[in-house]
Amino acid sequence: MAKQVKTIGVLTSGGDAPGMNAAIRAVVRTAIANGVKVKGIMRGYAGLLQEEIIDMESTSVSNIIFRGGTILYTARCQEFTTPEGQQAGAEICRKHGIDGIVVIGGDGSFRGAGKLAALGVNTIGVPGTIDLDIACTDYTIGFDTAVNTAMEAIDRVRDTSTSHERCSIIEVMGRNAGYIALWCGIANGAEDVLLPERYDGDEQQLINRIIANRKRGKKHNIIINAEGIGHSTSMARRIEAATGVETRATILGHMQRGGTPTCKDRVYASIMGAKAAQLLCDGASNRVVAYKNGQYTDFDIQEALQMKKDIQEDQFEIARILAL
Ligand code: ADP
Ligand code: F6P
Repeated sequence: MAKQVKTIGVLTSGGDAPGMNAAIRAVVRTAIANGVKVKGIMRGYAGLLQEEIIDMESTSVSNIIFRGGTILYTARCQEFTTPEGQQAGAEICRKHGIDGIVVIGGDGSFRGAGKLAALGVNTIGVPGTIDLDIACTDYTIGFDTAVNTAMEAIDRVRDTSTSHERCSIIEVMGRNAGYIALWCGIANGAEDVLLPERYDGDEQQLINRIIANRKRGKKHNIIINAEGIGHSTSMARRIEAATGVETRATILGHMQRGGTPTCKDRVYASIMGAKAAQLLCDGASNRVVAYKNGQYTDFDIQEALQMKKDIQEDQFEIARILAL
């Protein structure tokens, strides 16, 4: 029979994402409803190693569901990637009476959670990243807010781009993943979408398409470029030189990672946080909460980390067809 859990911890790790606070709130209140104490671990694994650990009550998470960012702060921590760092983390958990931890973050954070689980600290991962690049789940906390923020910003750039009959290269976040770029490509009716997963660097093709679009009477060209491809400013200069069309670059940057979470992010993050806390209270460990094929579910951490995910080719094709 599973050992009765008395105290759990919660931390956020890696890049922050709008909705993380809703997940923290759900973890805290679900644990308390189960008669389990909660400790907040500040600044991810870095704060764990520094023993930045606070007691959390139901009121500690009042008035946060609508706030972007994470009240627990977040960090990246090189030391925790070493066996010594992980051992130290597990010992600190034992010292503070923490039987289990909910880790809200991305794949890197789940790798750390898997290591803690192997050292006897029960762990449950909750997918939190604006990039949507966690293979085991169709939803990650923050993507919906980020993509809506980017979409609204791109609409604004589009207005001025049309008025001046310009070409606009708009860079959205996503170092390795083009989900924000692809969704904005479709939602903003962009003429071109450059994804890290697909772009082969053939700028001449891009230039040819801009020239062809102008000949067909288009008044502007909106090109969504993912951060992973980058170089938007120099790309704009080269496009202007090659096409004669005035071209500007806009890099949206971290504004996509902040701001008040959408309804979807608040609700999904709340449900995932609650399910993660419940799993810990029921004695589970080494699992990741996911939303797959319309259902909330959970996976073994190592199995989840081995899963693969790619941009769906038909969606990329639809973005291209609709741009014509
Ligand atoms: P994300 O969780 O968003 O993927 P990172 O890849 O930056 O973000 O990982 C967040 C943190 O998780 C890292 O700073 C590190 O402390 C921890 N981490 C990443 N990879 C590992 C690993 N292989 N083993 C243990 N901890 C890891
Ligand atoms: O959170 C994901 C992400 O926003 C990526 O799209 C981006 O490449 C990365 O984080 C940037 O992180 P930071 O600027 O915090 O190092």
